[in-house]
Amino acid sequence: MKLLVTTGPTHEAIDPVRYLANRSSGKMGMAIAAAGVARGWDVVLVAGPVALPTPPGVRRLDVVSAEQMYQAVARECQAVDIAVLCAAVADYRPVAPADQKIKKSGTGGLVLELEQTKDILGAMRQPIGFRGLLAGFAAETCDLLENARRKLERKGCDLLVANDVSRPDIGFGTEDNEVTLLFRDGRAPQVLPKAAKDQIATAILACLAAMAGPRG
Ligand code: CTP
Repeated sequence: MKLLVTTGPTHEAIDPVRYLANRSSGKMGMAIAAAGVARGWDVVLVAGPVALPTPPGVRRLDVVSAEQMYQAVARECQAVDIAVLCAAVADYRPVAPADQKIKKSGTGGLVLELEQTKDILGAMRQPIGFRGLLAGFAAETCDLLENARRKLERKGCDLLVANDVSRPDIGFGTEDNEVTLLFRDGRAPQVLPKAAKDQIATAILACLAAMAGPRG
């Protein structure tokens, strides 16, 4: 079985020394990649800028921006059976990053014009054409299940891992997570109670392996 995982934030350049990013540590995606290797799967990890070691046995491709992550995923997913897109991709990027470091001018403020990045998960079915099992994450601060269900349908996922990022003890930057799995096939949502991220990762992959059938 071949697995693609994305992890980490992305950095969107403002100028040569500044960028827009978010608080994702990349731990959840690293744990999923490691859990894939533990199952004996071939794992390719597309990682945004994260300060974490690569789990043994994982082929890692480092990227910086959402656009680079999109290009790497579009290429690598052609050869995999399962894709788990876990990265906290920046939704916006500066329209025109400056070539030189932006200097302060007088006492005035600075207005940055932003444009949306590509939605990588949302592009997997169309236009990328991925036909394998597709799992995504939903980072929500309110109305967790309703928002996550809409995301699952809108982005063509088979499985969506819903994450309440408003809780300080789970989610971004923490060791533990507690998630709810939502399924496209109409099954009832399944809660994975609070546990270390590697245990949550193992449970998510067990679920995907069962969905993949005998080859999983
Ligand atoms: N995602 C992605 N590319 C983006 C934004 C998000 O691939 N440009 C993926 C994430 O990896 C995750 C899923 O989409 O698996 C949901 O991410 P989330 O930030 O919860 O949702 P958004 O699509 O950004 O929607 P919103 O910000 O409106 O909640």
